[in-house]
Amino acid sequence: MCGIVGYVGKREASEVLLEGLRRLEYRGYDSAGVSILNGSGLQLRKAVGKLANLEKELRDAPIHGSVGIGHTRWATHGAPSVRNSHPHQSYDGHLSLIHNGIIENYRELKHELQAAGVKFESDTDTEVVAHLVARAYRGDLLKAVAEVLPRLRGAYALALLHQNEPGRVIATRVASPLVLGVGEGENFIASDVPALLKYTRRVIFPEEGQIAEVTRDGVRVFTPDLKPAAAAVQTTELTLDAAEKEGFEHFMLKEIHEQPRAIAETLRGRLNEGAIDLSETGLTAETLKTVRRVAIVACGTSLYASMVGKYLFERFTRLPTETWSASEFRYANPVVDRHTLVISVSQSGETADTLEAVKLAKAAGAATLSVCNVMGSSIPRLSGATLYTRAGPEIGVASTKAYVTQLTAFVLLAVGTGRMLGTATREDETRLVNGLMRVPGQVRALLDKDIVAVKRCARRYKDVFNFMYIGRHYNYPTALEGALKLKEISYIHAEGYAGGEMKHGPLALVEGTFPTIAIAPRGATREKLLSNVQEIRARQGVVVLVATEGDTEAAELADYLIEIPDCAEELSPILAVVPLQLLAYYTATQLGRDVDKPRNLAKSVTVE
Ligand code: F6R
Repeated sequence: MCGIVGYVGKREASEVLLEGLRRLEYRGYDSAGVSILNGSGLQLRKAVGKLANLEKELRDAPIHGSVGIGHTRWATHGAPSVRNSHPHQSYDGHLSLIHNGIIENYRELKHELQAAGVKFESDTDTEVVAHLVARAYRGDLLKAVAEVLPRLRGAYALALLHQNEPGRVIATRVASPLVLGVGEGENFIASDVPALLKYTRRVIFPEEGQIAEVTRDGVRVFTPDLKPAAAAVQTTELTLDAAEKEGFEHFMLKEIHEQPRAIAETLRGRLNEGAIDLSETGLTAETLKTVRRVAIVACGTSLYASMVGKYLFERFTRLPTETWSASEFRYANPVVDRHTLVISVSQSGETADTLEAVKLAKAAGAATLSVCNVMGSSIPRLSGATLYTRAGPEIGVASTKAYVTQLTAFVLLAVGTGRMLGTATREDETRLVNGLMRVPGQVRALLDKDIVAVKRCARRYKDVFNFMYIGRHYNYPTALEGALKLKEISYIHAEGYAGGEMKHGPLALVEGTFPTIAIAPRGATREKLLSNVQEIRARQGVVVLVATEGDTEAAELADYLIEIPDCAEELSPILAVVPLQLLAYYTATQLGRDVDKPRNLAKSVTVE
């Protein structure tokens, strides 16, 4: 939520900032703005809505200068408007500031500042920081920032410019992402690495609470009390190509098509002569001996992957396993102790609730393991161990390739852990390792088939108001995920249900033309789900059936049949979700929706 960029160097700052903001627009698109420092002082441009509007402002009224900061906003405090857009300025107009996160105690700080006569220009929580730093300023921005930070509660990545200090950007972070880019005679800051890739692949990830001073000549990192801190420069493996659409109309479609590669990457080096190798996680039979239960915490799509993870963990480890929405876990006083293994799942590694859940788990003495896609992000840095999903950068707001790689990671984790505990058999391991190795090719085949029934369905049902998705056991979460994909990018209301729950209420919705997507691949619950389908058909409901290739009984029951390749039932969620992603995509594009930037949403939810 919200993207920040900063630049100090020799190029036109406006161009570098716009390039960075373009790469960060997935983090919010309610408004955008830049502040550039030149001989005439701090220059501001802001525009409501997508970045294109700010680009136009800058074309109409360019600003020259080679030091600046920029922001793309996902509104939390204050409606999307020019006055609430960042950068914000201090009351004396000498300082500009951008912020990603929430200042939780902004009300009390605002009252204090108002009592001292400071006039506020916006409804945001951010503006208090600009004024506090201006009041603390005595000729050194770094010192002023360090003085103010202990007064702030909440999450923030901040970057500041002061008109008396040309050539210097100060940045800091607590519970929000920040990366520093190291160039030659130019340096950068950003919320996420893709914003820097056009200029440098050398990056520093500052720790929580550290403060960075970025000048043309270098990047220096300090502890909160301004002692020099070691800052390791890493070379990121990400490339600009990976952050481009590569001929696809949308990032989402590109990312759906990248799934075979993403799954293969997630398996790379983790399957060793038919066995699962979890050595990189540090999990051993010894460390697992103390674990009595597992709690999996995540949000949204990652939560649905975790629900499949729960079934897999209980099946293969026989450890009681719970799944928690991270936002609930935090406030539910969960039973977590040193005998609990808390697994957090997050594509971005920055989701505020998931991050806080990990902190809670650590404080309670639990072992922590994260399943994450972004190297160096906050959640893996905090966790005892991490299994990276290696899906590559996911830019489309709707998660697709991260989901299938999370499912893949859970098969590895559950079966690998089960083998260490002696609760999973060698036969299970061999069967699933062989199955996993086939999955990338099976997903490719599914995509190459260009599922005609999916497109027909999208055309036929794009104008209905409601959809139902049903599944059982491993594919109950598939129903939830299918419904989430449809609603978030097409804005059609969709619900996911466990098939067995239909008779307990939702069946009342079914009538002629009401579409239900039923997920019934080969497996222990297929017959039960087909009975649910019969009950829907008996009430004239329309059924789109996702079934295993060659299932003639299913074919007879389907108004629209979508076939997926045969696979082990534990792996079926990976294949079954693919047509549902495409159904959501084609429905949304037919409705003319902005698929990669659905309304009201942003990619990385760094506020709770
Ligand atoms: C939906 C979607 C979200 C995320 C959720 C968690 O398509 O992308 O529901 O899954 O915001 O994000 P991460 O996985 O980054 O923690």
